[in-house]
Amino acid sequence: MPAHVVVGAQWGDEGKGKVVDLYTEFADVVVRYQGGNNAGHTLVVERDGKPDKTVLHLIPSGILHPDKVCVIASGVVVDPAICLKEIDALQQRGYLKAKSERLLIADDASVIMPYHSALDLAREASRGDDKIGTTGRGIGPCYEDKVGRRSILIRDLLDEDSLRAKLDRLLPEKNHLLSFYGEPLFEMEPMVKELLGYGERLAPFVGDARQYIHAQLSRDRQLLFEGAQGTLLDVGLGTYPFVTSSHTTAAGVCINTGVAPSALDEVVGITKAYCTRVGSGPFPTELDDAVGEHLRDVGREFGSTTGRPRRCGWIDVAALRYAVRVNGLTGLAVTKLDVLSGLDSVKLAVSYTDAEGNEYDEPPMNCETLEQLTPVYEEMPGWDEDLSNMRQRQELPETAQRFLERLETILEVPIILVSIGPARAETIVIRHLNR
Ligand code: IMP
Repeated sequence: MPAHVVVGAQWGDEGKGKVVDLYTEFADVVVRYQGGNNAGHTLVVERDGKPDKTVLHLIPSGILHPDKVCVIASGVVVDPAICLKEIDALQQRGYLKAKSERLLIADDASVIMPYHSALDLAREASRGDDKIGTTGRGIGPCYEDKVGRRSILIRDLLDEDSLRAKLDRLLPEKNHLLSFYGEPLFEMEPMVKELLGYGERLAPFVGDARQYIHAQLSRDRQLLFEGAQGTLLDVGLGTYPFVTSSHTTAAGVCINTGVAPSALDEVVGITKAYCTRVGSGPFPTELDDAVGEHLRDVGREFGSTTGRPRRCGWIDVAALRYAVRVNGLTGLAVTKLDVLSGLDSVKLAVSYTDAEGNEYDEPPMNCETLEQLTPVYEEMPGWDEDLSNMRQRQELPETAQRFLERLETILEVPIILVSIGPARAETIVIRHLNR
């Protein structure tokens, strides 16, 4: 049963969108399995001979390929207004033609309600310097309701009685919380009207995603599961509490889509050739110097969802070691190697030490301990060449090849793809996914 997974191996923003877009060529169905519109996948494809940029927050990047089916699984939290905005934009630009056939939204996905975003922002504001640095999109409060067994589900937007019954219970409680934070309250009638309007427009795309995925697998169709955010932002396995509220790792595929662990085939981890983080939390290799500026400027490291400047630093191989282990990575895709061009030397953090000289091979998932650690770096000579026209690994400057080899040696995972620019063509494909 060919089911491949693409996950972020760092703190998100690794370039998963581009890699999924490339791998979609070999897939029949692309499934987004967690997160919501906190993600932002930037895709640049050739259209009418010109590069054309699309930013997607919710709909799987595979939608840019004609004839592929994209699924938003039940583990995703869906802001219906954002979802419709993306559908409209894709339809206007000719990427999404036949209405219901190419996009399926799980009827049991949780809906991000207007009060979720309001609560997210209010809670963050109340935390002052201790804030998580969330995207403010209501992700955490929506997942809280899911685990609390009180979500409004997508199918409730198609059923007025069910929506009203749930909101009758929920809204007074949410308004109570909002008044605690001194925020404006929500009224029932305008909210119901708005949500039913969304439901009516989403209806042609809504169905039983779990059953659909199962049927595709039993027919031996090729499935690609697209992760959002990154391993270190997993609510269970990441740098808690500075994490998102979903399971971003490969295991998240199973609980969020109903696919058994034994059905998963390849798990590809995406890592930049350096490292970034948005929001608060430990980041051992963060740079506050000219190299950090270089990475931010050349790599255009500003959030595609919030526009926030990303924190930048050297690649953290010790953290990648952890990502390899918890995801069971079978291959690595290294993105943005081109951004390192022009640096005299490049560094890789291979472990950390504490004040007593103890060495750590992997990041301890205790933020207070992790904050105290110092990275142990290996330094390698850099390169100046523009890599964007290189299409074979052997064409890369020798120093860049050595950098990649060092990564493979330490992590004991083959690099199967190297990205050297945002466009589809700016890619060195070393090996395709197994079919
Ligand atoms: P939330 O997902 O909006 O609750 O944010 C929680 C943490 O995850 C914050 O540090 C965010 O910056 C981070 N985060 C959420 N989504 C992304 C993403 O797509 N890329 C990178 N960081 C993210």
